[in-house]
This record gives sequence, C-alpha cells and structure tokens, in this order.
Amino acid sequence: MDEFAKVIFDGKTFNLPIVTGSEGEKAIDIRMLRQKTGLITYDPGFGSTGSCKSAVTFMDGEKGILRYRGISIEQLAKHSTFVETAYLLINGELPTYSELNKIRVQLNDYSLVHEDMQVFFQNFPRFSNPMGILSTMVNALRSFYPVLDDVEESINSTMLRLLSKVRTLAAMSYKISRGHKVVYPRQDCTYCANFLNMMFDTPVRPYILDEDVVKALNLFWILHADHEQNCSTSAVRVVGSGKVNLYAAISAGICALWGPLHGGANQAVIEMLSDIHKDGGDIDNVVARAKDRNDSFRLMGFGHRVYKTYDPRAIIMKKACDKILSKMKINDPLLDIALKLEEVALKDPYFIDHNLYPNIDFYSGIVLRTIGIPTNMFTVMFAIGRLPGWITQWKESIDDPDWRISRPRQLYTGLKEKKYISIEDRK
Ligand code: SDX
Repeated sequence: MDEFAKVIFDGKTFNLPIVTGSEGEKAIDIRMLRQKTGLITYDPGFGSTGSCKSAVTFMDGEKGILRYRGISIEQLAKHSTFVETAYLLINGELPTYSELNKIRVQLNDYSLVHEDMQVFFQNFPRFSNPMGILSTMVNALRSFYPVLDDVEESINSTMLRLLSKVRTLAAMSYKISRGHKVVYPRQDCTYCANFLNMMFDTPVRPYILDEDVVKALNLFWILHADHEQNCSTSAVRVVGSGKVNLYAAISAGICALWGPLHGGANQAVIEMLSDIHKDGGDIDNVVARAKDRNDSFRLMGFGHRVYKTYDPRAIIMKKACDKILSKMKINDPLLDIALKLEEVALKDPYFIDHNLYPNIDFYSGIVLRTIGIPTNMFTVMFAIGRLPGWITQWKESIDDPDWRISRPRQLYTGLKEKKYISIEDRK
C-alpha cells in the first residue's frame, strides 16, 4: 500500500510519497515539493536529508551496525583483506579465486606512476601537508592518464589504476619529503605489503615485512573502506554530478576528508592524547573543556553524526591496538590515556546525554603510530582506505537514472532590493 506524508500549507493539503529502503528505513520523496507547494526544505548539515538511494553500505546508527554490500564489518575484519573488500564494494559481490587473482595482477600492473610526476613532488615546499600533496597529485593523474569518460572499460581501468597508484603517490610524497630515494612497488608484494615497503625500505636498511603489521594495515583499511554518505563521499558525489572525471571527483573527496572534524580527527586525537601525556595525564581538565560550551575544544575521536552508540569500527580498532602493541612489544602511554579518557567520558552525564561515544578515529592513530606511520600522514592513510568507497559511490551516482547535477536551494536572508549609489555619493 502506498504511504504518503501530508503537508498542510496555505489552506491546502499536499501528499508527498513515502519511499522505503531495503532495511525498512523510510523517506519523504520531496522532489516535487517546490513545484507542488512553492516550499523548499531547510536542513543545514543535511542531518535529516537523504541525498541519494544507495546499495553500497548500510549503517544503523542506533544499533551500531555497519555492512558493506550486506556483509558486516565484523565479518570482513575477521576474514577479508583490503583488496577483497575493495572488490566487494566496487563489484557488489565477493570475488572468486580467479577474479581476485585478476584484480591483484591489475593492481600490480598499475602500481607505477609516470616518472615525470616525481618532478611535482620535488617542487612542493618540504613541509607541505601530505593531504594537499595527495589531492594535487591525484588530480594531476588525469593529465598523465586521460579518461575516456563514456567508455566502460576505460572507467573500470581508471578505477583500478587510481586504487593502485594512490599508494605509490602517498609513499613517494613521504620519501621525497624526507629527502630519501623513492622506493618502487615490487611485483612480489601484496597491496598493503607493497605500501609498507615503499614507505619504509631504504638502501641501507631493508624493510622486513612483518605479517602482523601487514594484517593490521589490511584491517585499518577495511574499517575505513566506506561509510555511506559522509562529508567526503558527499563531496565526491556532488563534484562528480557535474560529470567531471574520476580523478577530479576523488581529489575533492580528499580535500573534504582533510578537516579535523572528519578524516583529520585521527591526527587530532594523537595530538590531543600527546598533549594530555605532556601535561601529566590531566584527563579531568580535558573532559571539562570538552563539556564547556564556551570552549571550542572538542574531545577528538568522540561523537558521530550517525552513530548514537559505540562506532562498531572503534570496537574492532581498539582490539587491534592491543594486538599490534603486544606483537611489537611496545607499551604506548597514549593507549593508557585513551582507555582512561574513554572510561571517564562514558560515565559522564554530558557524554551520555549527548550520545557521544568513541568513533573510528579514537583508536586508529595508535595503530598507525605502532606500525611507524608519521602523524602527518594519518589522514592520508584514511584517504587510501576510503578510496574504494569513494570510487564505488561515484560509479553508483553516474549510473543512477535518478541522478542529476547537485544544486541545492537556499533560504535568502539578505537585503531587499536597493539602488546602486555612485561612489561620489557614498558617505
Ligand atoms: C569521521 O560521517 C561519517 O561517517 C564520518 C566518518 C567516516 O567514516 O566517514 O565516520 C569519519 O569523520 C568520524 C568523526 C571524526 N571527528 C571527530 O572525532 C571530531 C570530534 N567530533 C565532533 O566534532 C562531532 O561529534 C562530529 C563532527 C563528529 C559530529 O558533529 P555533529 O553531528 O554535527 O554534532 P554537533 O556538532 O551538532 O554536536 C551535537 C552536540 C553539541 O552540543 P550542544 O550544542 O547540542 O549542547 O554534541 C556536542 C556538541 O557540542 N558534541 C561534542 C562532541 N561532539 C559533539 N562535545 C564535545 N566533544 C565532542 N567530540
């Protein structure tokens, strides 16, 4: 039976259809609202606005559920690899052996970047932010690898090309920023192992791959692979709606992820924990500041627009901290501070009343520190992990028959019409 929402306005009643998702969530289809009623909706931050229909990722913020193409994040974290998860997101199903081997060969074949791209890196100021470099270099890929936007095969190879080269670009920016020789991808390394080797191998100290470190990186990137219509994914969709090439849309997503309220939070968490450590572990002061409405300080790694309970990824990441720290025989004081901070916050009425729980960024930085990633590259690591999700959501949007160029309306609150005054008459 068709369901409707009634809008009663200006003495008239308008029926707007209710659409229902495959998990039972419901939405008012307002596409005809303005045409029927002259009204628009007002929803800064889009907290109550669905921008699209999507079959990629399902989240239930109240129950703390996250599934990629129907498979729970817990199952994928336990059984999958990042490449397999990327395949699942992009293609909608888990790969067979032959499909997995095929994508592995393609990712290997695409792992080099044009030698001329190294010149770009040489000319960034030494302390340039790696996220700014990454968004620039991803955009620059378009110049080296033109995309035939309307040829399916070209789009598919472009998606894999980007998925492979993003590692190489990230590792190159790190090596060159340190004045080190660039390490090339190896044919005998898996996706994650190759990245670690490109980051940490040197001519005088060969990098020894540790399978637990490779597993930790696989897990880190699986947990970040997609998250429905978050800020950066929405940026990819909005920019992509203008029919730009994939590289430009992804470059926009990287920029959107950069901020401390979004992907930049993992770096901000470590900086916050380090400050607490330096200040002698004064957790109560940090919690008090986070609760003070007159203080702009936020408890980084806490809170979420959708999760109003524990972020399921944070639960998995927290366990990964213990595992990788004990394997590397590292006792990281920041983990102890994080655990104490979580314990204090989760008992505090402010955090309870505001439904503020740890999100993925609260523990992820500790895993990255342990495997040797520099803090200023934490958000780059988030971007590499999120790339399969951005690619999938972009592809879904350009294939969506309902998709149109994104062009929201506004509620104008400026001045009414007034006359132009020539400069001689201005006071
Ligand atoms: C990611 O969307 C996604 O899916 C994102 C992500 C993904 O995978 O793509 O999950 C990745 O970005 C995780 C979030 C990382 N950011 C942080 O950890 C930064 C700290 N968190 C907050 O800034 C905040 O919680 C956000 C940005 C995550 C969510 O912001 P909202 O939904 O806009 O919530 P809000 O700012 O309107 O806050 C609601 C209330 C406010 O208090 P009141 O004015 O109503 O009294 O909660 C308070 C806020 O002050 N609040 C916090 C807080 N987060 C919210 N107070 C203290 N510390 C915090 N962290």
